[in-house]
Amino acid sequence: MKNMFLLVFVFITTTLLFAGTPTKAELDNGKAVFNKICFACHRDGVAGAAAITNKKRWQENADKGLSTLVHSVKNGVTNGKYGTMPPKGGCMDCKDEDFRDAILYMIHESGATLK
Ligand code: HEC
Repeated sequence: MKNMFLLVFVFITTTLLFAGTPTKAELDNGKAVFNKICFACHRDGVAGAAAITNKKRWQENADKGLSTLVHSVKNGVTNGKYGTMPPKGGCMDCKDEDFRDAILYMIHESGATLK
């Protein structure tokens, strides 16, 4: 029984510790999704999109929290500060995880950090 508690404790601490650190699988998938669709605007920062190299802009995004960002990508951004993003970034066959991974990838590449 004591071991069970220890296991649960270790699991929770590890989950909390690594919550902001994407796994390699997430980053690999994120990169693939980015290269398929998001790069069109987010590589160089076309039409107000945050360029993948723009740490300041990605930090501003990251501070909104991952679930808010996934929501924005799914629904698109029409009343943004910088420009307009089409719903799903135009990727109609992408799943929620794909958006999540692509966001994690861009935050990671930009050097910004997710809280
Ligand atoms: C047609 C261009 C375009 C494409 C393609 C595109 N985006 Fe965007 N994206 C934008 C623009 C412009 C903004 C800035 C909107 C604003 O804040 O004014 C934006 C903002 C965002 C944000 C910040 C949302 C927020 O809540 O502030 C995230 C996250 C994001 N894009 C992720 C993605 C992902 C992931 C993909 C690929 C699946 C993608 N984008 C594809 C143009 C694009």
